Amino acid sequence: MIAHHESALRGQVLDGAAPEVAVGKDASNQRPSGEVRHPVLEPATPTFRLQEAEGAPSAGRGSAHGKVILLGEHACVYGTPAIAWPVPELRVEVVACDSAAASRTGASTDTLWIDCRRDIAKSLSRASALSSGTAVAVEAALRLWGHARVVRLEVDNRVPLGRGLGSSAACAAAAVHAVADLCGEEPDPGVVYELVQRGEQVSHGRASGVDARCAVASEPIWFRAGRGWPLVVGLSAVLVIADTGVTAATSTAVGAVRARFDQDPAAVGLLFDRAAALTRAAAMDVMWGRGPALGARLIEYQRLLDLLGLSTPEIDALCAAALDAGALGAKLTGGGLGGCVLALATDIDAAVAVDSALVAAGAVRTWMVNIGGEV
Ligand code: MEV
Repeated sequence: MIAHHESALRGQVLDGAAPEVAVGKDASNQRPSGEVRHPVLEPATPTFRLQEAEGAPSAGRGSAHGKVILLGEHACVYGTPAIAWPVPELRVEVVACDSAAASRTGASTDTLWIDCRRDIAKSLSRASALSSGTAVAVEAALRLWGHARVVRLEVDNRVPLGRGLGSSAACAAAAVHAVADLCGEEPDPGVVYELVQRGEQVSHGRASGVDARCAVASEPIWFRAGRGWPLVVGLSAVLVIADTGVTAATSTAVGAVRARFDQDPAAVGLLFDRAAALTRAAAMDVMWGRGPALGARLIEYQRLLDLLGLSTPEIDALCAAALDAGALGAKLTGGGLGGCVLALATDIDAAVAVDSALVAAGAVRTWMVNIGGEV
């Protein structure tokens, strides 16, 4: 069913006031319910289970998911809005144990040790691009909750790294939830956001907070200036996400945009103004079910991202293939310079055709997300 709230749709003014396209309360105050309003069309992957060490006194568990940004990436780092969509299929599951509960031998690269016994917490694992943000978030959590201990985190991550799908935020959010569970804490979602966001500042260089908000949201969000609200969805369509296979660090892309902005703030500021206008209009398209108009905005936003130097030949090829196959619109999603493209298809049949075209054009993998409506 389409989540369509008449009362909320009436009288909306997209003038930049915070919750203009939202209903209900701030998404940051919503607990992730696990209930998915926008199921992914692919079959669910098997649930991860950690074999707990024998005699383990306790283990904490947490999960979170990746996301795609429909519109608004990069400009949102400078305070403009963004629309982000959770992708439940892209799941991260984390199990946290006390160090005494498990042996260090045989630890995989997805295992992270955090030592918080001294004043200064430190990650004992080899810091990777992924683990550093997660370690920062977990260290901050342990310090906040006053637990001087060594924890071991087993991370089962189904969000491809460096593809603009929110892997760093999802891993940090799942880890914070697992550690909270281990410590018997029930943190407010706003606290979880703050902790994840600390990690994101490390992972992205400068992070708007959109990934951290979306990692724990159970529905699409309207994001602005660090806050998120559930977005009213009156659109029935399918998003097809395609991976170029090219890894790109979000921090590199954010840094490149920063360099352009510093070089020519007036010109880049104009691009951000246009980005904000497109994102506001797109939120109205999502609410009112205007697929073709939304598609046109995706195409224009892709042009803006290209002007910012964030597109690549691989991204261009996938966007062109999607449009040739009948997609209403297509653009890169997330940081760019590689990563993923998203395409908007009218329905499942159109999405299957777009998906085939994307694979033929070189996509190394694809996902589909149903937006509203029946599949
Ligand atoms: C990354 O998913 C989105 C960016 O806008 C960075 C950020 O908002 O932190 C590129």
